[in-house]
Amino acid sequence: MTLQTSRAIRIDQHGGPEQLKLVETSVGDPGAGEVRIRHHAVGLNFIDVYQRSGLYPMPMPLQLGMEAAGVIEAVGAGVTHLQPGDRAAYASQPPGSYCDVRVMPAICVCKLPDAISLETGAAMMLKGLTAQYLLKRTQPQGGLQAGDFVLFHAAAGGVGLIACQWAKAMGLQLIGTAGSDAKCTLALANGAAHAINYSTEDFLARVKSITAGRGVKVVYDSVGKDTWDKSLDCLQPFGLMASFGNASGPVAPFAPGILGAKGSLYVTRQTLFTHMATRESTQAMADDLFAVVASGQVKIHIEQRFRLEDVQQAHRDLEARKTTGCTVLTL
Ligand SMILES: NC(=O)c1ccc[n+]([C@@H]2O[C@H](COP(=O)([O-])OP(=O)(O)OC[C@H]3O[C@@H](n4cnc5c(N)ncnc54)[C@H](OP(=O)(O)O)[C@@H]3O)[C@@H](O)[C@H]2O)c1
Repeated sequence: MTLQTSRAIRIDQHGGPEQLKLVETSVGDPGAGEVRIRHHAVGLNFIDVYQRSGLYPMPMPLQLGMEAAGVIEAVGAGVTHLQPGDRAAYASQPPGSYCDVRVMPAICVCKLPDAISLETGAAMMLKGLTAQYLLKRTQPQGGLQAGDFVLFHAAAGGVGLIACQWAKAMGLQLIGTAGSDAKCTLALANGAAHAINYSTEDFLARVKSITAGRGVKVVYDSVGKDTWDKSLDCLQPFGLMASFGNASGPVAPFAPGILGAKGSLYVTRQTLFTHMATRESTQAMADDLFAVVASGQVKIHIEQRFRLEDVQQAHRDLEARKTTGCTVLTL
């Protein structure tokens, strides 16, 4: 067995950014179904905050991180879609991408097309595959057609800026919300048909006005607690509330009867890893993402870079709503 040392970011208990510690780990050879990948860059995601804080309780100690790109160093038995030397990127369970090199399950690791850089791959996999399954696989009854209105909260964030561009490519009219005028300008520049500063404007009133009182077919809501109630009121009858995050805190329990009263609404709480349960579904989603990025229809905006050892500041900025687009940790 070859043992290599790697820098890694670990927490020993849930808590604030101060819990993130730089440690040295030993990395061995991949077992069956695994690869060893040497990272070029690591993606930062809001789920890392939930796993650090304990909103999503995790076993300790925990090496954080769900997204990265790099070069495959070794493959274990049974891995046929990757070989040593391949450039690859992933969004994946279990956490552990905050490091130089790791051994991990191969199922979610995808070979990166030549047209996409390693840094872009590190920034886009978790966020881009999320935008993919939301817009393509999380649709209302009857689907989405060109011209339809959808509401997308936190539209200037990592997932948000990708969704703005992809929705435009699909012909959808995405109404984006964001927490400042500058973020609204960014969402509009990336394909949002309308943008609402929900820190200063009543987004429900604006959605009603933009849609001539009809409402939207889908609300994609990753903000959670702060936007839930009004988001339900933004929907057309039979509309779909697609909840996929809790940046402001988890949604409170609610009585299903409210969905009838508001127009026979549908509610779903989605998570990426259900969609990525098989190698085939992961690759199909990744191929769709690679195509839309390689064609230039979706640009991956890396707006912040932090060194791995500065990860505490990266978490602080993400939680303080100071970031836009994607953030990567450099190695
Ligand atoms: N379920 C899934 O499969 C899945 C997968 C990926 C991501 N997600 C979720 O999607 C969301 C976006 O992820 P991301 O990594 O791209 O993050 P992000 O959007 O870049 O950052 C989160 C954004 O949420 C907004 N926000 C609203 N209220 C907030 C609050 N109280 N505290 C902090 N932020 C607040 C902020 O934008 P404004 O200032 O514009 O409000 C902030 O920039 C997250 O909630 C994440 O958990 C879910």
